[in-house]
Amino acid sequence: MSEPQLTPALIRAALTTVKYPGFSRDIVSFGLVKDITVTEDGAVVIELIIESKNADVPRYIYENVMGTVKELPGVKKLDVNIEHHAPKSTKQPTANDDPADWKSSVPGVKHVIAVASGKGGVGKSTVSANLAVALSKLGYKTGLLDLDIYGPSMALMFGTKERPGCSEKEQFLPVEAHGIKLLSMGLMIDEASPVAVRGPLATRYVQQFLRDVEWGGLDFLILDMPPGTGDIQLTIVQTVDLAGAVIVTTPQEVALIDARKAVGLFQRVETPILGLIENMSYFVCPSDGLIYNIFGEGGGEREAQKLGVPLLGRIPLDIQTRSCGDEGHPVALEDPGKSMVAAAFEGVASMLASTLGE
Ligand SMILES: Nc1ncnc2c1ncn2[C@@H]1O[C@H](COP(=O)(O)OP(=O)(O)OP(=O)(O)O)[C@@H](O)[C@H]1O
Ligand SMILES: [Mg+2]
Repeated sequence: MSEPQLTPALIRAALTTVKYPGFSRDIVSFGLVKDITVTEDGAVVIELIIESKNADVPRYIYENVMGTVKELPGVKKLDVNIEHHAPKSTKQPTANDDPADWKSSVPGVKHVIAVASGKGGVGKSTVSANLAVALSKLGYKTGLLDLDIYGPSMALMFGTKERPGCSEKEQFLPVEAHGIKLLSMGLMIDEASPVAVRGPLATRYVQQFLRDVEWGGLDFLILDMPPGTGDIQLTIVQTVDLAGAVIVTTPQEVALIDARKAVGLFQRVETPILGLIENMSYFVCPSDGLIYNIFGEGGGEREAQKLGVPLLGRIPLDIQTRSCGDEGHPVALEDPGKSMVAAAFEGVASMLASTLGE
């Protein structure tokens, strides 16, 4: 049987196996392939257009297109030309732009960082609280917004029951605890009353929380995201101009699978992934000092390498971290010389601060 003739259609079909990084969709269905030419002597030229803030995206696609098309029978020479530019949302707005196309920055805040995980219960709120404290200890003005309207936990973690105030401009005024400006659904509702808000209403609450708060000048605002990758999460990442996302996972495969979904959510809206934090990484037995890898070993590191993002820190499973959280006194407030976890969060905070600049 003779080989099928090398045609642009055949090459286009082969390119449907090249996925856009972080997505299950391929580069052809995303409309990235602008032109394909093939000469009789087997010289192939592929023209791609890629709109992305992330320079790794064209590199990844280039390598995968090269690898895929080179293997096709009859290809003697291959050129892949990529026209790469930043997406519309990174340009300055003009009068003709639809404001809905613009993600808004949070007024008075330099860097907004989302802490997300995909899977519930892996330690987003613990990481958010301690990261905020560690940034504040480094001297940065830091705020924390608990966006988990169904299961808010920040009021408890910071040991405050004070209700947020209202400014002259009728905006929320955050509460202050341990040097952090704090706003949480838990500070608005009584412990007993369930937040009976669903779907669109929940989305409205979140949008209000993102827009109508007088933070009063912050270097960093940490968003404690609700678990999952659904509508609320999508609203958040579409509404706010995020400096980036920090993904929390445990070393366990079930957590890593969901962490990948969270990474996909941020990549869809061109938000940089600042790195992974592996929580509950190991347990040091207080009686014999032995290390137990309760949820497995090395999962966070392998995943970070696969995704090409830094592993910002490994936080052990630690009794004091849990008890401090329950007692309203985040463990990162401790002396890093005495608490391994406080030291780890100090490291994460320094890395983020140096990545994002001041
Ligand atoms: N490193 C740790 N050591 C000990 N306990 C921890 C650690 N990290 C988190 N925990 C505990 O695990 C529980 C879940 O943590 P947390 O509430 O931070 O998770 P979450 O991802 O925010 O959960 P949710 O998805 O419900 O919002 C809490 O009781 C917390 O105190
Ligand atoms: Mg939480």
